[in-house]
Amino acid sequence: MSLRDDVCEVLMSEEELKETCKRLGQQISKDYEGKNLLLVSVLKGAVVFMSDLLKEITCDCVIDFMAVSSYSGTKTTGVVKFKKDLDINPDGCDILLVEDILDSGITLSYLRNVLLDRNAASIKICTLLDKPANRQADIKADYVGKVIPDAFVVGYGLDYDEKYRNLPFVGILSPKVYEK
Ligand code: IMP
Ligand code: MG
Repeated sequence: MSLRDDVCEVLMSEEELKETCKRLGQQISKDYEGKNLLLVSVLKGAVVFMSDLLKEITCDCVIDFMAVSSYSGTKTTGVVKFKKDLDINPDGCDILLVEDILDSGITLSYLRNVLLDRNAASIKICTLLDKPANRQADIKADYVGKVIPDAFVVGYGLDYDEKYRNLPFVGILSPKVYEK
């Protein structure tokens, strides 16, 4: 049995992921030309997307990471735990939060509020996947890779109990895996 056998449907192939990073990277490069771009990625799920997106950005930028957690298995706990703060002082920076998936929106709205208190020049959101069905917080992404249905997905950085992050595509995890 390989990891791939636990995926029941591929939502974004390697090729589509590559094209998506290219499209978003071009748009971001255009929008942030001459600005003070700080890309902030949310660990750990967004690292694969962040590194591919980064290579498609052609304007000056710096990167940093934050870590939070709100998930246990396939369900959000609704409570965000802060685990790692920024190393760079975001004062005056045009922050672009880079996320793997926008689900309930609780994580990003919490992070946005934390960063709003730090004198950033602007804060926008770029998410690879948008799952609007389960939205609880009042938050919208400025850049979206793909809108997906309400299913638990893994791969390309996204995990189920820390597994499946190394799959090179995004796919729906077979419910048999977590309903056991
Ligand atoms: P939110 O706070 O509910 O928007 O959840 C955001 C975080 O939950 C994401 O950054 C992911 O790490 C995780 N998450 C939400 N949906 C999924 C999913 O379908 N698969 C894997 N992780 C998910
Ligand atoms: Mg995440």
